[in-house]
Amino acid sequence: MTVKIYFRDEDKWLEGKPGDSLLDVALDGGVDLEHACGGFCACSTCHVRVEKGMELLSEMEECEEDLIDEARDSGLNSRLACQSKILPGASGEIQVHIPSWNINAVKEEG
Ligand code: FES
Repeated sequence: MTVKIYFRDEDKWLEGKPGDSLLDVALDGGVDLEHACGGFCACSTCHVRVEKGMELLSEMEECEEDLIDEARDSGLNSRLACQSKILPGASGEIQVHIPSWNINAVKEEG
């Protein structure tokens, strides 16, 4: 069972399986998504917007809620990519938008 994930900014379709996080899928598929803390729910650089298919992803836990609250420009469909895992038995499509300020902010520093 797989879920198709569309990374809108890169115009790229990738496939994920239950238990994979959006960050896993992005990195495996060559999508440049920041992840300063390495996926441990301790930064918020992996902040993305889930534009479709939120119901296919795990619920937010407290640490993610706290970081999203503090994240710049967060909204109702904001998630941390490293904490958003594809649910068991999920099938369908997810659409993800990576806020451009997120990418640019990190690249400019480097
Ligand atoms: S990579 Fe740090 S919270 Fe997701």
